[in-house]
Amino acid sequence: MTIEPVLSNKYNVPVPRYTSYPTVPFWKDELDITQWKNIFQQQFSLTNSKEGISLYLHLPFCESLCTYCGCNKKITTNHSVEDEYMKAIAKEWSLYMELMHEKPVIRELHLGGGTPTFFSPENLKRLLNIIFEKAIISPDHEFSIEGHPNNTTTEHLQALYDLGFRRISYGVQDNDPEVQRVINRIQPVENVQRATEAARSVGFKSVNYDLIYGLPLQTVASLQKTIEQTIALQPDRIAFYSYAHVPWTSRGQRLFDEKDLPSTEEKMQLYQLGKKLLTENGYHDVGMDHFALPADDLYIAKVEERLHRNFMGYTTQHTKLLLGLGVSSISDAGMAFAQNEKTLHDYYASIERNEIPVVRGYFLNAEDVDFKKYILDVSCKGKTSFKPEHLPLLKKYSFPELELLELDQLVEWDETGLQVTALGFNFIRNICKAFDLHLLRNQKESTTPRFSKAI
Ligand SMILES: C[S@@+](CC[C@H](N)C(=O)[O-])C[C@H]1O[C@@H](n2cnc3c(N)ncnc32)[C@H](O)[C@@H]1O
Ligand code: SF4
Repeated sequence: MTIEPVLSNKYNVPVPRYTSYPTVPFWKDELDITQWKNIFQQQFSLTNSKEGISLYLHLPFCESLCTYCGCNKKITTNHSVEDEYMKAIAKEWSLYMELMHEKPVIRELHLGGGTPTFFSPENLKRLLNIIFEKAIISPDHEFSIEGHPNNTTTEHLQALYDLGFRRISYGVQDNDPEVQRVINRIQPVENVQRATEAARSVGFKSVNYDLIYGLPLQTVASLQKTIEQTIALQPDRIAFYSYAHVPWTSRGQRLFDEKDLPSTEEKMQLYQLGKKLLTENGYHDVGMDHFALPADDLYIAKVEERLHRNFMGYTTQHTKLLLGLGVSSISDAGMAFAQNEKTLHDYYASIERNEIPVVRGYFLNAEDVDFKKYILDVSCKGKTSFKPEHLPLLKKYSFPELELLELDQLVEWDETGLQVTALGFNFIRNICKAFDLHLLRNQKESTTPRFSKAI
């Protein structure tokens, strides 16, 4: 399917990635910590003995700065920082354990960053043993980690495997040497191959690659080569991210020349090329920016309509409580989101005071819960049904947007529900926006840039 440039230009406007609803810019800066603790406790009681809980640990350190990076990270080559950070996470975990009336059952665990493999294998083991010490590991646990292909060693992989990890996600981004030079990430494809083979021989059952389209100096020819090299290595999943250009928050992005970035049309061509090559070579489109081989759980979850979307993108999350530990981590307790302090200094200071280091967040009301469901339905299933009691709000905010999207043949809808068209799957973020009441109500008032563009 070719997408007309006029259409990609029209929809290439700043839109959230909808990894949460309400999206982070609409959260409140001062969160009532007592209310957060209460909601956390209620959700813990509801979910722990049934599905268990999910943990996310943010390990922020990286040895060098990739200029495109939009993640919360701290660049250092001094590995003595590992100890202090592990102590802080252990303390944060114990502060949450005080709120738990029974041993937590850990069903899912994800180590993200930054670069979790910045930590030595011994330290990862120490840290996780502290977390596991007073917990029960669910028999059907799913543990995963983000590894950097340049510094993930067989020792890391073996230590993680022994702790129960079976999934690894590697940041590949782009294999072209010129692109790598300008993004300051020299990572020969041989390193990706070595890290992939090492993970498989240790026993990891799912390897994911992160690729990005829209990076500076990327061309159709260079991306084609990266994708062909990727297909040859057969990762089970691929996250094919649109480069998010947000230089107002990620200052490293000011280090390259904006003139080197592909235009909107070129970026759409890059996405189309990647999607075509991947789907012609055995990968299935899972949604927005994820592809998977048919045997992979992510694709199976999509087929079985069990897909979920959270801060880590599309997931197969099985629990109703996600507790994020570490600097900038986000927790999701169903009726509330909470984010930790975003600088190491403030995070450590809060932990030092024996306080849960939550700094901002949001308590959902009934309207948020209903519209969150519409947004999750659109992004995970490509369809939704409308509840009659929501018709007044839908008519006021969403239907006028759907009428416009329908003119461009992105959706088919009536007052009972909506189906995304094949063309519309290329513009999922724009379609989700039709149900984002916070954004629609505020759209006219704000001139400050908050989101990256849709494409
Ligand atoms: C926090 S990083 C962890 C991976 C690990 N640190 C590495 O670089 O190999 C997670 C992923 O976010 C993606 N990412 C980072 N900055 C991005 C941006 N500005 N736009 C799109 N994706 C981005 C990259 O694909 C990266 O692999
Ligand atoms: S992409 Fe990964 S390694 Fe590079 S700066 Fe970001 S978190 Fe660190």
